[in-house]
Amino acid sequence: MATPSPLPILYTQAQIQTRVAELGAVISRDFAGQSIVLVGVLKGAAIFLADLARHIQLDCTFDFVSVSSYGKGTTSNGQVKLIKDIDESIEGKNVILVEDILDTGLTLSFLRKILTQHHPRVLRLAALLDKPSRRLEPIEADYVGFQIPNHFVIGYGMDFAERYRNLADICLMPASPEPSA
Ligand code: IMP
Ligand code: MG
Repeated sequence: MATPSPLPILYTQAQIQTRVAELGAVISRDFAGQSIVLVGVLKGAAIFLADLARHIQLDCTFDFVSVSSYGKGTTSNGQVKLIKDIDESIEGKNVILVEDILDTGLTLSFLRKILTQHHPRVLRLAALLDKPSRRLEPIEADYVGFQIPNHFVIGYGMDFAERYRNLADICLMPASPEPSA
C-alpha cells in the first residue's frame, strides 16, 4: 500500500503515473533505435527516474550524481557543489539528466556544464516539475512533467528537511516553514 498523504495534494499518484508514462513514450520515440543513459540527481529524482525508466522502451543504463542541496530550508543558498560524479563514462552517449524540480535553474545549469565536459553525444534535461517563475539561470528542460507556480512541494521523492520523500502523491507544504526575510 502506498503511503497516504496527510497534506493537500497537488498531483495524485494516478496523475503522476499518466504524465510520467507520456514522457517515457516521448523519450522512446525521440531516441528510437538508440541507447540512452539516465543520470539521476540524488536524492529527489530517484523515484521519478525509477518510474520514468520503466516507461522507456530503449536500451537504457542508469547513473547518479549528487550535489549540495537546500539543507533544511526551502530556498537555495545559491551554492551548488558536486558531491558525487557519474560512475561510468558518458562520452559519445545519449544522456538524459533527470531532476525532480527545475527551480532557480542553478543546479541544472551547473550539472549541464559538468556533464558537457564529459563529451556526451546528446545531453537532454528532464524535470518532473518546473517552476518557471523562480528562474535565476536561463535554462529550460527538454522534458517537463508539470509546470507549477511558486509552491513548495513534497512527496514522490521530494523532501522538506529530508522528510516526506515517501509520499505517493505530490503535496503542498501548507505553511511557510521559514520566517520570511
Ligand atoms: P534549483 O537549483 O533552484 O533549480 O533547485 C533545484 C533543487 O531544489 C531541486 O532538485 C530540489 O531538490 C530543490 N527544490 C526546489 N523546489 C523545491 C520544492 O518545492 N520542494 C522540494 N525541493 C525543492
Ligand atoms: Mg534535488
